[in-house]
Amino acid sequence: MTKLNIAVSNKSVALTKGSAYVFGVTSIKDKLQVADSLVETSTLAAQDLKALGAKSTFEAMVRIMGPDGAVYLAVGLGEEELTDESLRQLAGAAVRQLNDFEKVVIGLPTVTAENALAVVEGSLLSHYDYSAYKSTKKPARLTSVTVLSRVTPKPTEIAEIETIAQAVNATRDLVNMPPNDLYPQTFAAFMQKAARGTGVTIEVWDEKRLAAEKCIGILSVGKGSVRPPRLVKIEYKPRGANKHIALVGKGITFDSGGLTLKPGTGMLGMKYDMTGAATVGHAALAIAALKLNVRVTAYMCVAENLPSGSATRPNDIIKYRNGKTVEVTNTDAEGRLVLADGLILASEQKPDLIVDVATLTGAARVALGVRTTGLMGVGTGVATLEKAAEATGEAIWAMPLPKELRALLNSDTADLINSKLGDPSGGMLVGAHFLKEFVGFHDRDKKNQIDWAHLDIAGPANNDGAPYGYTGKGATGVMVRTLVQVAKSL
Ligand code: BES
Ligand code: ZN
Ligand code: ZN
Repeated sequence: MTKLNIAVSNKSVALTKGSAYVFGVTSIKDKLQVADSLVETSTLAAQDLKALGAKSTFEAMVRIMGPDGAVYLAVGLGEEELTDESLRQLAGAAVRQLNDFEKVVIGLPTVTAENALAVVEGSLLSHYDYSAYKSTKKPARLTSVTVLSRVTPKPTEIAEIETIAQAVNATRDLVNMPPNDLYPQTFAAFMQKAARGTGVTIEVWDEKRLAAEKCIGILSVGKGSVRPPRLVKIEYKPRGANKHIALVGKGITFDSGGLTLKPGTGMLGMKYDMTGAATVGHAALAIAALKLNVRVTAYMCVAENLPSGSATRPNDIIKYRNGKTVEVTNTDAEGRLVLADGLILASEQKPDLIVDVATLTGAARVALGVRTTGLMGVGTGVATLEKAAEATGEAIWAMPLPKELRALLNSDTADLINSKLGDPSGGMLVGAHFLKEFVGFHDRDKKNQIDWAHLDIAGPANNDGAPYGYTGKGATGVMVRTLVQVAKSL
């Protein structure tokens, strides 16, 4: 994808050269009007916007030929007060709609520098498509966007948004890649390449090292594949940082279910099961690129879950690095098995906060739909993530961890089972209960558990439906921005 040049200008639309112009439409006393912005109302005032088909409904878009011969896109602003997030969505929708114009000028109503930055961000996030595997490519003509705003943000603030949007798009690239080309070894290689020159240290543990370190979850999930598993660790340690965040990501490059094989329809799309790992990796790299004053360690637990003569069997018992034993009753509940290793390693460092990100359960999609992240955790973890997501506009919803569900994970022969076959009730919460068992404590008598948040992104990680706002089809890169925001907020 070609880079999008972005600028914010406080000149009026008449003084800004473009090949297409975006303006907002509101309805005042049943009459459609150009929203207050730097778009001269005089150019369009003589036009009967309603007769031209413009609508004030949120995200409604109509192209209009202006009396000056220029192309205008009338974007409905809806009834509700505009927020940073709605501006982000509107800008994203407009940019996608105009991607066949070289230079787009956006005159949406902005009141604050944050509003203008939201328009910038929505534009950058929307300017994405994945055509690496298309034999004929139709690249977007769009190369530059000028955002009109009376209040202009600082250049450094714009640069920061560009860095973050790049991290989101890099995450999308990895997730969209087909699983014949993206497997544990290549995942690690892509991360190493992305980490070059950023000042982070990156370690890749191969299967021998994983065995030496007793990372049994990653090993047992990866055993069925001829492509061995990896743990990728990225560490960003700025001098003087007094807060430490650990990030843990589920990196199943393909989830067939293993011997507890998924049916064909349920298997399709499971290349996206490494989204959590891509998310935490690119969030850590963005935090380093922004030189935020927080220490960040990201653990990407990467394996391919396939059935074979060497695959883990239902009823196998594995023993973790921290001594806990798990009877694998369902090889399709593999995410929690690999994350357990990451959580144990993260806990050994006693960070201030652990956040794990995973496409963990189908139940998350049933409970929250495909646009909202499920949030669970202990201590301050939930509140910290809620606040960060509020700031970035990413949809998140806190779910409970009802005590009685823990008993569903009791095993006759080991400390825990990974999932009971059959009963799917509360599936997202049971998954979180399992993970919680591997979050360590600050003290020996286990009273003070490390603050932890678990993000189940099984719904919003991928968009199977039509594009909307700044979200195109396919991988979304959800939660990268929120993780960066967590680091900023500490
Ligand atoms: N990767 C899946 C989660 C998933 C399932 C995402 C369906 C999107 C759609 C995960 O590894 C899985 O298979 N989870 C099981 C858990 C169950 C066995 C407890 C599930 O959700 O069915
Ligand atoms: Zn699975
Ligand atoms: Zn999975």
